[in-house]
Amino acid sequence: MPTSQLFPSTLIVIPTYDEREALPGTLRRLRAAVPEAHVLVVDDSSPDGTGRWAEERAAADPAVHVLHRAGKQGLGPAYLAGFAWGLERGYQLLGEMDADASHRPEQLPGLLEAIRRGADLAIGSRWVQGGAVHDWPLHRQLLSRGANLYVRVLMGLGVSDATAGFRVFRAELLERVIAGDIASQGYCFQVDMTRRARDLEAVIREVPIDFDERTEGASKMSSGIVREALVKVTLWGIARRAQLLRKALR
Ligand code: GDD
Ligand code: MN
Repeated sequence: MPTSQLFPSTLIVIPTYDEREALPGTLRRLRAAVPEAHVLVVDDSSPDGTGRWAEERAAADPAVHVLHRAGKQGLGPAYLAGFAWGLERGYQLLGEMDADASHRPEQLPGLLEAIRRGADLAIGSRWVQGGAVHDWPLHRQLLSRGANLYVRVLMGLGVSDATAGFRVFRAELLERVIAGDIASQGYCFQVDMTRRARDLEAVIREVPIDFDERTEGASKMSSGIVREALVKVTLWGIARRAQLLRKALR
């Protein structure tokens, strides 16, 4: 039985900032790969008109929705706004995906299948057996591998790609994960979501995916985002290790 019949309501949240060139292709592929999934574009007033284009697309396709926000507020807050929108409307599965087709829409069924087999959170992972990155600049590969190694050593989450942005959550888990005050702006938002899911003893499955360097537009990664991640992962790691030590000494 196709996954969709088990989960009649799946919403894929796509945060956008200046993705006018990339988004059309990604949406076309996503609607073809998983036609029963709805899509919510969360646009932070992109100067390049991404939000306007998304509105036109939504007017022609009832499965496509748009949430406009004032000004660029970061990846994390964009996802939190999109998740709240989806949970209010009763979606049972809520996914994350980049707008620039770095995540292959054709590989979304693999994540949905992991949920069907019992996972609460499926992560499209670049760094497990079978995962791969293509045409990604070496410095980005080193940053991602280094960040994930740092997370693994400091936090021991048992996840190879904790910073991944291609995911599917069961609504029941997502509601509990975002009930906490998630304050991460940038990509450490993904680490924050992973550690909270782990603390809630969720079933987390990593599914190998291919990550393709974008061919349109530009990455929003910045040194500020890297700094935020370094500081927060260090603090979370120390707190986590201290908590584990307290438990061991009881
Ligand atoms: N609404 C909104 N607001 N969207 C944003 C913002 C923002 O402030 N910043 C980034 N985005 C959107 C982008 O438009 C894109 O759809 C997605 O978030 C990912 O941004 P990219 O700029 O493409 O990220 P990347 O490719 O450099 O980083 C990749 O690796 C990260 C770390 O491993 C992505 O896959 C990230 O998701 C991943 O966490
Ligand atoms: Mn990207």
